[in-house]
Amino acid sequence: MSSGKLNLTLKVWRQAGPDAKGEFVTYYAKNISPDASFLEMLDIVNEELEAKGEEPIAYEHDCREGICGTCGMVINGRPHGPLQGITTCQLHMRHFKDGDVIYIEPFRAKAFPVIKDLIVDRSAFDKIIQAGGFISVNTGSAPEANTIPVKKENAELAMDAAACIGCGACVAACPNASAMLFVSAKVSHLALLPQGLPEREIRVQKMVAKMDELGFGNCSNVGACEAECPKEIKITNIARLNREFYRARFLSNVED
Ligand code: SF4
Ligand code: FES
Repeated sequence: MSSGKLNLTLKVWRQAGPDAKGEFVTYYAKNISPDASFLEMLDIVNEELEAKGEEPIAYEHDCREGICGTCGMVINGRPHGPLQGITTCQLHMRHFKDGDVIYIEPFRAKAFPVIKDLIVDRSAFDKIIQAGGFISVNTGSAPEANTIPVKKENAELAMDAAACIGCGACVAACPNASAMLFVSAKVSHLALLPQGLPEREIRVQKMVAKMDELGFGNCSNVGACEAECPKEIKITNIARLNREFYRARFLSNVED
């Protein structure tokens, strides 16, 4: 009778540093419980590597609950792996079969340079947020929430957009390495709420300018971002981003 445990062949991208030449290296993950998460499986492989005095595979994670967005990697060609609507840390080994060969790579995009193995530098996203992804808040006591009416439809659209965890899978999935799903989620969730209106025009222009400056590509409506987004952010946000951008440009020209 089968033990139910999995024996897998891993082809893992190893790269010692940003300028080092990378390559796929083969490892064997033995006796893996189907209940283990993908990151727990990598932990087991790393414990064996360390026991042999070898360098463990470097990968990033924090919450392991699908919240922080740090655990992204490309598994068999798909950011965050074969399932939809989940992060790598939420992926379990029961979705693989005994004997599978699994290719594991970092997110690949010019704006996300590899730091080591599966870890990429996604600070470009922080720079886009710093450029405009915030609201001005007057200090003092909080206003009574019900004095600021928000249409239910807008509240729900803003909430959906705010679910973006900044993982970067949209960039990794896009053949143009576009960050437009991420930027559109941030622009949408703020532009749809009254609190986001004071910086509405300047925000979208600054965030788009920073996105372009950092080397992300443009959207050409491939749709891979929406398909691979672990938070199922809709591509309709990109349409809203475009509308917000042209509206802001028009109003800036009017003011000129
Ligand atoms: S839009 Fe989706 S894929 Fe892109 S950063 Fe946000 S959560 Fe990740
Ligand atoms: S480790 Fe936080 S989302 Fe995966």
